[in-house]
Amino acid sequence: MLRALLLENLHPHARTILESSGFEVETRTGALDESELIDALDGVHLLGIRSKTNVTAKVLESAPSLMTLGAFCIGTNQIDLRTAAERGVATFNAPFQNTRSVVEIALAEIIALTRRLTDRNAEMHAGVWNKSAEGAHEVRGRTLGIVGYGNIGTQLSVVAESLGMSVAFYNTSEKLALGNARRMGSLEELLEVADVVTLHVDGRKGNAGLFGAEQFARMKPGALFLNLSRGFVIDTGALREAILSGHLGGASIDVFPHEPKRKGDPFESDLRGLPNVILTPHIGGSTEEAQEAIGTFVANKLRDYVATGSTTLSVNLPNLALEQTTGVARIAHLHRNTPGVLAAVNNTLAQHGVNIEGQLLATRGELGYVVTDIGSPLPDGVTEALAAMDQTVRLRVLA
Ligand SMILES: NC(=O)c1ccc[n+]([C@@H]2O[C@H](COP(=O)([O-])OP(=O)(O)OC[C@H]3O[C@@H](n4cnc5c(N)ncnc54)[C@H](O)[C@@H]3O)[C@@H](O)[C@H]2O)c1
Repeated sequence: MLRALLLENLHPHARTILESSGFEVETRTGALDESELIDALDGVHLLGIRSKTNVTAKVLESAPSLMTLGAFCIGTNQIDLRTAAERGVATFNAPFQNTRSVVEIALAEIIALTRRLTDRNAEMHAGVWNKSAEGAHEVRGRTLGIVGYGNIGTQLSVVAESLGMSVAFYNTSEKLALGNARRMGSLEELLEVADVVTLHVDGRKGNAGLFGAEQFARMKPGALFLNLSRGFVIDTGALREAILSGHLGGASIDVFPHEPKRKGDPFESDLRGLPNVILTPHIGGSTEEAQEAIGTFVANKLRDYVATGSTTLSVNLPNLALEQTTGVARIAHLHRNTPGVLAAVNNTLAQHGVNIEGQLLATRGELGYVVTDIGSPLPDGVTEALAAMDQTVRLRVLA
Protein backbone atom coordinates (compact mmCIF):
# COMPACT_ATOMS: atom_id res chain seq x y z
CA MET A 1 0.00 0.00 0.00
CA LEU A 2 1.20 3.51 -0.81
CA ARG A 3 1.92 5.67 2.22
CA ALA A 4 1.42 9.43 2.57
CA LEU A 5 2.79 11.70 5.29
CA LEU A 6 1.01 15.06 5.68
CA LEU A 7 2.69 17.64 7.93
CA GLU A 8 1.84 21.14 9.17
CA ASN A 9 -1.87 20.70 9.81
CA LEU A 10 -3.09 20.55 6.21
CA HIS A 11 -6.78 20.97 5.43
CA PRO A 12 -8.66 17.68 6.14
CA HIS A 13 -9.75 17.50 2.49
CA ALA A 14 -6.19 16.50 1.59
CA ARG A 15 -6.42 13.44 3.83
CA THR A 16 -9.89 12.52 2.55
CA ILE A 17 -8.83 12.70 -1.10
CA LEU A 18 -5.71 10.62 -0.58
CA GLU A 19 -7.44 8.02 1.60
CA SER A 20 -10.22 7.59 -0.93
CA SER A 21 -7.51 6.97 -3.56
CA GLY A 22 -6.13 4.11 -1.49
CA PHE A 23 -3.31 5.81 0.43
CA GLU A 24 -2.50 5.01 4.02
CA VAL A 25 -2.27 8.55 5.42
CA GLU A 26 -0.39 9.76 8.49
CA THR A 27 -0.95 13.37 9.55
CA ARG A 28 1.08 15.53 11.94
CA THR A 29 0.31 19.05 13.09
CA GLY A 30 3.78 20.63 13.10
CA ALA A 31 6.82 20.78 10.83
CA LEU A 32 9.77 18.39 11.26
CA ASP A 33 13.44 19.25 11.28
CA GLU A 34 15.87 17.56 8.89
CA SER A 35 16.71 14.46 10.93
CA GLU A 36 13.11 13.96 12.10
CA LEU A 37 11.93 14.24 8.51
CA ILE A 38 14.48 11.71 7.27
CA ASP A 39 13.27 9.21 9.88
CA ALA A 40 9.60 9.94 9.19
CA LEU A 41 10.00 9.44 5.41
CA ASP A 42 11.12 5.82 5.71
CA GLY A 43 8.79 3.88 3.40
CA VAL A 44 6.75 7.01 2.54
CA HIS A 45 5.74 7.63 -1.10
CA LEU A 46 4.00 10.99 -0.83
CA LEU A 47 4.85 13.98 1.36
CA GLY A 48 2.62 17.02 1.96
CA ILE A 49 4.04 20.14 3.62
CA ARG A 50 3.50 23.88 3.96
CA SER A 51 6.18 26.55 4.17
CA LYS A 52 7.86 25.54 7.45
CA THR A 53 9.25 22.12 6.46
CA ASN A 54 12.58 22.31 4.67
CA VAL A 55 13.00 19.52 2.15
CA THR A 56 16.74 19.60 1.64
CA ALA A 57 18.97 17.60 -0.71
CA LYS A 58 19.94 15.40 2.26
CA VAL A 59 16.28 14.66 3.01
CA LEU A 60 15.57 13.78 -0.62
CA GLU A 61 18.67 11.61 -0.91
CA SER A 62 17.62 9.73 2.24
CA ALA A 63 14.09 9.03 0.98
CA PRO A 64 14.34 6.53 -1.90
CA SER A 65 10.65 5.59 -1.78
CA LEU A 66 9.44 9.21 -2.12
CA MET A 67 7.63 9.67 -5.47
CA THR A 68 5.89 12.99 -5.11
CA LEU A 69 5.85 16.07 -2.93
CA GLY A 70 3.11 18.64 -2.39
CA ALA A 71 3.71 22.18 -1.10
CA PHE A 72 0.26 23.17 0.19
CA CYS A 73 1.09 26.86 -0.31
CA ILE A 74 2.35 29.10 -3.13
CA GLY A 75 6.07 29.28 -2.34
CA THR A 76 8.42 26.38 -3.01
CA ASN A 77 11.72 27.90 -1.83
CA GLN A 78 11.65 25.57 1.22
CA ILE A 79 12.25 22.66 -1.19
CA ASP A 80 15.45 21.79 -3.04
CA LEU A 81 13.56 21.57 -6.33
CA ARG A 82 16.60 20.71 -8.40
CA THR A 83 17.50 17.69 -6.30
CA ALA A 84 13.84 16.67 -6.23
CA ALA A 85 13.79 16.77 -10.06
CA GLU A 86 17.08 14.88 -10.35
CA ARG A 87 15.60 12.16 -8.15
CA GLY A 88 12.31 12.11 -10.07
CA VAL A 89 10.22 13.45 -7.18
CA ALA A 90 7.35 15.31 -8.88
CA THR A 91 6.62 18.49 -6.90
CA PHE A 92 3.40 20.48 -6.94
CA ASN A 93 2.18 23.68 -5.27
CA ALA A 94 -0.99 25.79 -5.19
CA PRO A 95 -0.26 28.72 -7.50
CA PHE A 96 -3.61 30.51 -7.47
CA GLN A 97 -5.89 29.01 -4.84
CA ASN A 98 -5.67 32.07 -2.55
CA THR A 99 -5.71 34.70 -5.29
CA ARG A 100 -9.28 35.76 -4.52
CA SER A 101 -8.50 36.09 -0.79
CA VAL A 102 -5.70 38.56 -1.56
CA VAL A 103 -7.94 40.51 -3.92
CA GLU A 104 -10.66 40.84 -1.30
CA ILE A 105 -8.32 42.00 1.47
CA ALA A 106 -6.74 44.53 -0.90
CA LEU A 107 -10.16 45.99 -1.72
CA ALA A 108 -11.14 46.08 1.96
CA GLU A 109 -7.94 47.98 2.73
CA ILE A 110 -8.33 50.41 -0.15
CA ILE A 111 -11.79 51.36 1.11
CA ALA A 112 -10.71 51.45 4.78
CA LEU A 113 -7.77 53.75 4.00
CA THR A 114 -9.79 55.99 1.68
CA ARG A 115 -12.40 56.47 4.44
CA ARG A 116 -9.73 56.68 7.18
CA LEU A 117 -11.55 53.92 9.05
CA THR A 118 -8.27 53.10 10.80
CA ASP A 119 -8.15 56.46 12.60
CA ARG A 120 -11.90 56.59 13.30
CA ASN A 121 -11.76 53.07 14.74
CA ALA A 122 -8.77 53.90 17.00
CA GLU A 123 -10.50 57.10 18.20
CA MET A 124 -13.73 55.28 19.01
CA HIS A 125 -11.86 52.64 21.03
CA ALA A 126 -10.21 55.53 22.86
CA GLY A 127 -13.68 56.99 23.57
CA VAL A 128 -13.55 59.85 21.01
CA TRP A 129 -16.64 60.59 18.83
CA ASN A 130 -15.00 62.32 15.82
CA LYS A 131 -17.95 62.54 13.41
CA SER A 132 -16.43 64.22 10.37
CA ALA A 133 -16.24 63.85 6.57
CA GLU A 134 -12.85 65.51 6.40
CA GLY A 135 -10.29 63.40 4.52
CA ALA A 136 -12.84 60.65 3.85
CA HIS A 137 -13.54 59.78 0.19
CA GLU A 138 -15.38 57.34 -2.03
CA VAL A 139 -13.24 54.96 -4.08
CA ARG A 140 -15.60 55.42 -7.05
CA GLY A 141 -13.89 57.49 -9.71
CA ARG A 142 -10.42 57.15 -8.14
CA THR A 143 -7.53 55.63 -10.07
CA LEU A 144 -6.07 52.36 -8.86
CA GLY A 145 -2.50 51.73 -10.03
CA ILE A 146 -1.67 48.02 -10.05
CA VAL A 147 2.02 47.10 -10.26
CA GLY A 148 2.31 43.45 -11.34
CA TYR A 149 -0.64 42.32 -13.49
CA GLY A 150 -0.52 38.58 -12.82
CA ASN A 151 -3.07 36.29 -11.17
CA ILE A 152 -3.84 38.70 -8.34
CA GLY A 153 -3.35 41.97 -10.24
CA THR A 154 -5.73 41.01 -13.05
CA GLN A 155 -8.49 39.81 -10.72
CA LEU A 156 -8.16 42.93 -8.58
CA SER A 157 -8.42 44.98 -11.78
CA VAL A 158 -11.80 43.44 -12.65
CA VAL A 159 -13.31 43.73 -9.17
CA ALA A 160 -12.02 47.29 -8.63
CA GLU A 161 -13.64 48.40 -11.90
CA SER A 162 -16.94 47.00 -10.69
CA LEU A 163 -16.65 49.43 -7.75
CA GLY A 164 -16.27 52.29 -10.21
CA MET A 165 -12.51 52.66 -9.93
CA SER A 166 -10.45 53.50 -12.96
CA VAL A 167 -7.57 51.02 -13.30
CA ALA A 168 -4.06 51.64 -14.62
CA PHE A 169 -1.45 48.89 -14.48
CA TYR A 170 2.21 48.37 -15.09
CA ASN A 171 3.66 44.93 -15.82
CA THR A 172 7.19 44.32 -17.06
CA SER A 173 6.02 41.87 -19.74
CA GLU A 174 3.12 42.34 -22.18
CA LYS A 175 -0.28 41.57 -20.60
CA LEU A 176 -3.81 41.70 -21.93
CA ALA A 177 -5.63 44.65 -20.33
CA LEU A 178 -8.93 43.45 -18.85
CA GLY A 179 -12.09 45.57 -19.01
CA ASN A 180 -11.21 49.25 -19.32
CA ALA A 181 -7.83 48.93 -17.56
CA ARG A 182 -5.05 51.00 -19.12
CA ARG A 183 -1.54 49.65 -19.57
CA MET A 184 1.16 52.11 -18.53
CA GLY A 185 4.47 52.18 -20.40
CA SER A 186 6.51 52.62 -17.22
CA LEU A 187 6.25 52.52 -13.44
CA GLU A 188 6.81 56.30 -13.35
CA GLU A 189 3.84 56.88 -15.63
CA LEU A 190 1.66 54.80 -13.31
CA LEU A 191 2.84 56.63 -10.19
CA GLU A 192 1.87 59.97 -11.74
CA VAL A 193 -1.78 59.00 -12.31
CA ALA A 194 -2.65 56.63 -9.42
CA ASP A 195 -4.57 57.66 -6.29
CA VAL A 196 -3.85 54.22 -4.87
CA VAL A 197 -0.76 52.19 -5.75
CA THR A 198 -0.84 48.47 -4.98
CA LEU A 199 2.04 46.01 -5.49
CA HIS A 200 1.41 42.50 -6.78
CA VAL A 201 4.78 41.64 -8.33
CA ASP A 202 6.37 38.23 -7.93
CA GLY A 203 9.31 37.45 -5.67
CA ARG A 204 12.11 37.46 -8.26
CA LYS A 205 15.44 38.73 -6.87
CA GLY A 206 15.44 41.76 -9.19
CA ASN A 207 12.38 43.14 -7.36
CA ALA A 208 14.36 43.75 -4.16
CA GLY A 209 14.04 47.44 -3.29
CA LEU A 210 11.64 48.10 -6.18
CA PHE A 211 9.97 50.81 -4.08
CA GLY A 212 12.14 53.31 -2.19
CA ALA A 213 12.26 57.07 -1.47
CA GLU A 214 12.32 57.96 -5.19
CA GLN A 215 9.18 55.96 -6.03
CA PHE A 216 7.25 57.21 -2.97
CA ALA A 217 8.22 60.79 -3.88
CA ARG A 218 6.83 60.29 -7.41
CA MET A 219 3.43 59.23 -6.08
CA LYS A 220 0.65 61.84 -6.04
CA PRO A 221 0.36 63.87 -2.80
CA GLY A 222 -2.11 62.14 -0.49
CA ALA A 223 -1.99 58.88 -2.46
CA LEU A 224 -2.32 55.52 -0.72
CA PHE A 225 0.12 52.63 -0.92
CA LEU A 226 -0.41 48.86 -0.49
CA ASN A 227 2.04 45.98 -0.46
CA LEU A 228 0.69 42.44 -0.31
CA SER A 229 3.42 40.90 -2.47
CA ARG A 230 6.81 40.37 -0.81
CA GLY A 231 8.44 42.23 2.05
CA PHE A 232 11.81 42.84 0.42
CA VAL A 233 10.21 44.74 -2.45
CA ILE A 234 9.93 47.98 -0.45
CA ASP A 235 12.14 50.16 1.74
CA THR A 236 10.00 50.43 4.89
CA GLY A 237 12.14 53.31 6.24
CA ALA A 238 11.38 55.36 3.12
CA LEU A 239 7.67 54.53 3.46
CA ARG A 240 7.73 55.67 7.09
CA GLU A 241 9.22 59.02 6.00
CA ALA A 242 6.65 59.42 3.21
CA ILE A 243 3.81 58.86 5.73
CA LEU A 244 5.26 61.06 8.47
CA SER A 245 5.95 63.92 6.05
CA GLY A 246 2.29 63.76 5.00
CA HIS A 247 3.22 63.12 1.35
CA LEU A 248 1.31 59.81 1.40
CA GLY A 249 -2.19 59.63 2.87
CA GLY A 250 -1.88 56.09 4.21
CA ALA A 251 -0.61 52.58 3.60
CA SER A 252 -1.46 48.97 4.13
CA ILE A 253 1.33 46.44 4.51
CA ASP A 254 0.92 42.67 4.84
CA VAL A 255 4.45 41.44 4.10
CA PHE A 256 7.72 42.48 5.72
CA PRO A 257 11.46 42.10 5.06
CA HIS A 258 11.83 40.23 8.37
CA GLU A 259 8.78 38.34 9.53
CA PRO A 260 8.53 36.56 12.90
CA LYS A 261 8.93 32.81 12.59
CA ARG A 262 6.10 31.68 14.84
CA LYS A 263 2.58 32.74 15.72
CA GLY A 264 2.74 34.82 18.91
CA ASP A 265 6.35 35.99 18.36
CA PRO A 266 6.96 39.73 18.84
CA PHE A 267 6.76 41.92 15.74
CA GLU A 268 9.21 44.79 15.16
CA SER A 269 8.86 47.30 12.34
CA ASP A 270 9.50 50.99 11.70
CA LEU A 271 5.93 51.11 10.37
CA ARG A 272 4.33 50.48 13.76
CA GLY A 273 2.29 53.33 15.24
CA LEU A 274 1.87 55.40 12.05
CA PRO A 275 -1.43 57.17 11.25
CA ASN A 276 -3.74 55.61 8.66
CA VAL A 277 -1.44 52.63 8.27
CA ILE A 278 -2.87 49.10 8.38
CA LEU A 279 -0.42 46.36 9.33
CA THR A 280 -1.38 42.70 8.94
CA PRO A 281 0.69 39.56 9.69
CA HIS A 282 1.05 38.12 6.14
CA ILE A 283 -2.57 37.01 6.03
CA GLY A 284 -3.43 38.30 2.56
CA GLY A 285 -4.09 34.79 1.29
CA SER A 286 -5.11 33.27 4.62
CA THR A 287 -8.79 32.42 4.61
CA GLU A 288 -10.58 29.21 5.37
CA GLU A 289 -11.83 29.15 1.77
CA ALA A 290 -8.28 29.41 0.42
CA GLN A 291 -7.02 26.69 2.79
CA GLU A 292 -9.76 24.36 1.60
CA ALA A 293 -9.04 25.17 -2.06
CA ILE A 294 -5.31 24.59 -1.54
CA GLY A 295 -5.90 21.28 0.28
CA THR A 296 -8.15 20.02 -2.49
CA PHE A 297 -6.04 21.28 -5.40
CA VAL A 298 -2.67 19.94 -4.27
CA ALA A 299 -4.05 16.60 -3.05
CA ASN A 300 -5.72 16.11 -6.46
CA LYS A 301 -2.44 16.89 -8.24
CA LEU A 302 -0.57 14.34 -6.11
CA ARG A 303 -3.31 11.72 -6.57
CA ASP A 304 -3.36 12.25 -10.36
CA TYR A 305 0.41 11.99 -10.61
CA VAL A 306 0.43 8.71 -8.76
CA ALA A 307 -2.55 7.30 -10.70
CA THR A 308 -1.81 8.53 -14.23
CA GLY A 309 1.69 10.04 -14.30
CA SER A 310 0.16 13.46 -15.05
CA THR A 311 2.57 16.30 -14.25
CA THR A 312 0.38 19.28 -15.18
CA LEU A 313 1.57 22.34 -13.20
CA SER A 314 4.43 20.43 -11.57
CA VAL A 315 7.02 23.01 -10.57
CA ASN A 316 10.03 20.82 -11.30
CA LEU A 317 9.24 18.14 -13.90
CA PRO A 318 8.30 18.47 -17.59
CA ASN A 319 4.54 19.04 -17.75
CA LEU A 320 2.29 16.42 -19.38
CA ALA A 321 -1.50 16.41 -18.97
CA LEU A 322 -2.58 12.77 -18.92
CA GLU A 323 -5.86 10.97 -18.50
CA GLN A 324 -6.22 7.43 -17.17
CA THR A 325 -4.56 4.97 -19.57
CA THR A 326 -6.82 3.40 -22.18
CA GLY A 327 -4.26 0.74 -22.97
CA VAL A 328 -3.19 -2.24 -20.90
CA ALA A 329 -0.29 -0.47 -19.23
CA ARG A 330 1.49 2.88 -19.14
CA ILE A 331 5.26 3.34 -18.94
CA ALA A 332 6.30 6.70 -17.49
CA HIS A 333 9.99 7.29 -18.14
CA LEU A 334 11.73 10.31 -16.67
CA HIS A 335 15.17 10.73 -18.16
CA ARG A 336 18.08 13.04 -18.73
CA ASN A 337 17.31 14.95 -21.90
CA THR A 338 20.12 13.84 -24.24
CA PRO A 339 19.96 13.43 -28.03
CA GLY A 340 18.55 10.07 -29.14
CA VAL A 341 16.96 9.08 -25.85
CA LEU A 342 13.43 8.79 -27.30
CA ALA A 343 14.73 6.59 -30.12
CA ALA A 344 16.53 4.42 -27.55
CA VAL A 345 13.32 4.00 -25.50
CA ASN A 346 11.34 3.05 -28.60
CA ASN A 347 14.08 0.68 -29.84
CA THR A 348 13.97 -1.11 -26.49
CA LEU A 349 10.18 -1.37 -26.71
CA ALA A 350 10.39 -2.64 -30.33
CA GLN A 351 13.05 -5.21 -29.47
CA HIS A 352 10.69 -6.62 -26.84
CA GLY A 353 7.77 -6.70 -29.28
CA VAL A 354 5.82 -3.96 -27.50
CA ASN A 355 3.12 -2.26 -29.58
CA ILE A 356 2.75 1.46 -28.77
CA GLU A 357 -0.85 2.72 -28.54
CA GLY A 358 0.01 6.28 -27.68
CA GLN A 359 3.03 8.29 -26.64
CA LEU A 360 3.65 11.81 -25.29
CA LEU A 361 6.93 13.58 -24.61
CA ALA A 362 7.70 16.80 -22.76
CA THR A 363 11.07 18.27 -21.84
CA ARG A 364 12.16 20.82 -19.28
CA GLY A 365 15.78 21.87 -19.14
CA GLU A 366 17.89 18.81 -18.50
CA LEU A 367 14.94 16.46 -18.07
CA GLY A 368 12.65 14.65 -20.49
CA TYR A 369 9.46 12.77 -19.66
CA VAL A 370 8.05 10.25 -22.10
CA VAL A 371 4.82 8.43 -21.33
CA THR A 372 3.92 5.44 -23.46
CA ASP A 373 0.62 3.54 -23.42
CA ILE A 374 0.87 -0.03 -24.66
CA GLY A 375 -1.87 -2.37 -25.87
CA SER A 376 -0.57 -5.68 -24.58
CA PRO A 377 0.88 -6.92 -21.29
CA LEU A 378 4.52 -5.96 -20.69
CA PRO A 379 6.88 -8.69 -21.88
CA ASP A 380 9.57 -9.92 -19.45
CA GLY A 381 12.74 -7.88 -19.38
CA VAL A 382 11.44 -4.61 -20.85
CA THR A 383 11.23 -2.64 -17.59
CA GLU A 384 14.67 -3.87 -16.56
CA ALA A 385 16.08 -2.79 -19.96
CA LEU A 386 14.51 0.70 -19.68
CA ALA A 387 15.61 1.07 -16.05
CA ALA A 388 19.18 0.16 -17.05
CA MET A 389 19.45 2.99 -19.63
CA ASP A 390 22.14 5.54 -18.67
CA GLN A 391 19.67 8.40 -19.03
CA THR A 392 16.93 6.92 -16.82
CA VAL A 393 16.07 9.02 -13.75
CA ARG A 394 12.90 7.19 -12.73
CA LEU A 395 10.73 4.57 -14.36
CA ARG A 396 7.16 3.83 -13.36
CA VAL A 397 4.80 1.28 -14.81
CA LEU A 398 1.11 2.07 -14.26
CA ALA A 399 -1.58 -0.45 -14.97
N1 LIG B 1 0.14 38.38 1.14
C1 LIG B 1 -0.14 37.12 0.91
O1 LIG B 1 -0.58 36.37 1.77
C2 LIG B 1 0.07 36.59 -0.48
C3 LIG B 1 -0.73 35.55 -0.96
C4 LIG B 1 -0.57 35.14 -2.28
C5 LIG B 1 0.42 35.72 -3.07
N2 LIG B 1 1.23 36.69 -2.56
C6 LIG B 1 2.27 37.33 -3.37
O2 LIG B 1 1.60 38.16 -4.32
C7 LIG B 1 2.46 38.34 -5.46
C8 LIG B 1 1.67 38.20 -6.74
O3 LIG B 1 1.11 36.90 -6.83
P1 LIG B 1 0.48 36.38 -8.23
O4 LIG B 1 -0.06 35.03 -7.97
O5 LIG B 1 -0.37 37.43 -8.83
O6 LIG B 1 1.84 36.26 -9.07
P2 LIG B 1 1.99 36.21 -10.66
O7 LIG B 1 3.30 35.56 -10.89
O8 LIG B 1 0.76 35.64 -11.28
O9 LIG B 1 2.07 37.76 -11.07
C9 LIG B 1 3.17 38.59 -10.85
C10 LIG B 1 3.22 39.58 -12.01
O10 LIG B 1 4.17 40.60 -11.70
C11 LIG B 1 4.89 40.92 -12.89
N3 LIG B 1 6.13 41.58 -12.47
C12 LIG B 1 7.22 41.01 -11.89
N4 LIG B 1 8.11 41.96 -11.57
C13 LIG B 1 7.57 43.15 -11.95
C14 LIG B 1 8.01 44.48 -11.86
N5 LIG B 1 9.19 44.80 -11.31
N6 LIG B 1 7.21 45.46 -12.36
C15 LIG B 1 6.01 45.14 -12.91
N7 LIG B 1 5.54 43.90 -13.03
C16 LIG B 1 6.31 42.90 -12.54
C17 LIG B 1 5.04 39.59 -13.58
O11 LIG B 1 5.30 39.75 -14.97
C18 LIG B 1 3.67 38.95 -13.33
O12 LIG B 1 2.74 39.28 -14.33
C19 LIG B 1 3.58 37.35 -5.29
O13 LIG B 1 4.73 38.02 -4.82
C20 LIG B 1 3.08 36.39 -4.23
O14 LIG B 1 4.13 35.81 -3.48
C21 LIG B 1 1.05 37.15 -1.29
